[in-house]
Amino acid sequence: MGQREKNLRVLGIETSCDETGVAVYDEHLGLLAHALYSQVQLHAAFGGVVPELASRDHVRKLIPLVKQVLADAGTRPEQLGGVAYTAGPGLIGALLVGACVGRSLAWAWGVPAVGVHHMEGHLLAPMLEDPAPVFPFIALLVSGGHSMLVEVRGLGRYRILGETLDDAAGEAFDKTAKVLGLGYPGGPALARLAASGRPGRLRLPRPMLNRPGLDFSFSGLKTAVITGIRDLELDEQAKADVAWEFQEAIVDTLVAKSLRAVSETGIQRLVVAGGVGANRRLRARLADAAQAAGAEVFYPRLEFCTDNGAMIAYAGMLRLAAGEAAASSIEARARWDLETLRPPRGGGAAPTGPGPAD
Ligand code: KG4
Ligand code: ZN
Repeated sequence: MGQREKNLRVLGIETSCDETGVAVYDEHLGLLAHALYSQVQLHAAFGGVVPELASRDHVRKLIPLVKQVLADAGTRPEQLGGVAYTAGPGLIGALLVGACVGRSLAWAWGVPAVGVHHMEGHLLAPMLEDPAPVFPFIALLVSGGHSMLVEVRGLGRYRILGETLDDAAGEAFDKTAKVLGLGYPGGPALARLAASGRPGRLRLPRPMLNRPGLDFSFSGLKTAVITGIRDLELDEQAKADVAWEFQEAIVDTLVAKSLRAVSETGIQRLVVAGGVGANRRLRARLADAAQAAGAEVFYPRLEFCTDNGAMIAYAGMLRLAAGEAAASSIEARARWDLETLRPPRGGGAAPTGPGPAD
C-alpha cells in the first residue's frame, strides 16, 4: 500500500458452474456493486447442471452483466485497477467463458488480470462482512462440489485439515432430495421441508463421527435414506420427518468436526462458507456449539454463501494489492488443489480494507 496513487478497484467475474456473478470491489470503499444471474431454471428440467448449456448461457449473460454492474458501481473502465476471474476448479467450458472475457477486458483496458481459485473466493467471503474475521481462522467449506475444513493462516496459506472421502455435503443434500422427489435444486428444497419435520421417524448413521480425524463421508447417508424409506408410507409429513433426520445427521457431523478442528488447532475463529453454509439449522447449531466452546463463528450473508462475483472480486483485489504478478495467459483448470496456492509476492498480509460499503 502507500505507493499506489489511487484506490485499487477490481472487477470480479465468476462463471465456474451455473451462476454468472459479477462485482466491483474497491480496496478502501468496499463492495460497490454486485449482480448474479442464476441459470437454475435452465437446468431444472434436466435435474442437474448441463455443462454445455451452462457455458452457452454464460456467453449470453456475462457481458450485459459486466455493463450493468459497472454502471451500478458508478465505475468507468479507466477507474479499474484489475480484473479477477474464477480460473478453477469448475466446469471447464463455463470457466473458459469467464477467463476469456476477463482476460480480454483486462487487456483492452490495460490492467492486470488475476485468475482466482473458486474455493479461495468462498473461504474469504466472510471477510466481506462487518465484523470480518481476522487471520488465522478455521474455514468450514461446504458446497455442492467440496466439503473441507481448512486452516487459513493468511492469504494463500491454506492447510486442509479434513475433507470428504466421497460425496460433498451439498451433493448429499441434492441426491437425497432427488430420492424424496423434491426436484432441483434439492438442497434448499430439502432444508425447507425439514423445517416442518419431526424427529424420530428414522434412525440414520453419523458417518465418521466416532473415528479420529477431521474427514467426512456422506454417501452412506443417501443409501441409509433409500433403505430407511422402503417401509414408510411417504406422505408429506413422513417426507418432512425424513428430511429433518437427514439434515440433522449432516449437521451433527459438520458441527462436531468443526469444533474438533477448533480444539485441535487452538484457533478460536471459525468461518463457514459455500452453499450449504446457507443452511439455517447448521448456522443455529454451530452458533450454539461455538458459544459453548468459547469460539466465534463468522458467515457471509446468505447470497455470498453460494456462488457469487463479490468473493472473486475481493480475493482478486487482495492478491493484486499484495503484489501478485498477473498472468498474461488465459487460465482455466477444471481441477485445482487449494493447498497448491501460495501467498502473493507481497507476502499475503491481512487486508487493510474497510469492510462492507453498505
Ligand atoms: O457453493 P455453491 O453455490 O456451489 C458450488 O460451488 O458447489 O453450493 C451449492 C450447493 C448445492 O449442493 C445446494 O443444494 C447446497 O449448496 N445448498 C444447500 C442450501 N442452500 C444451498 N444445502 C442445504 N441447505 C441449504 N439451505
Ligand atoms: Zn461454489
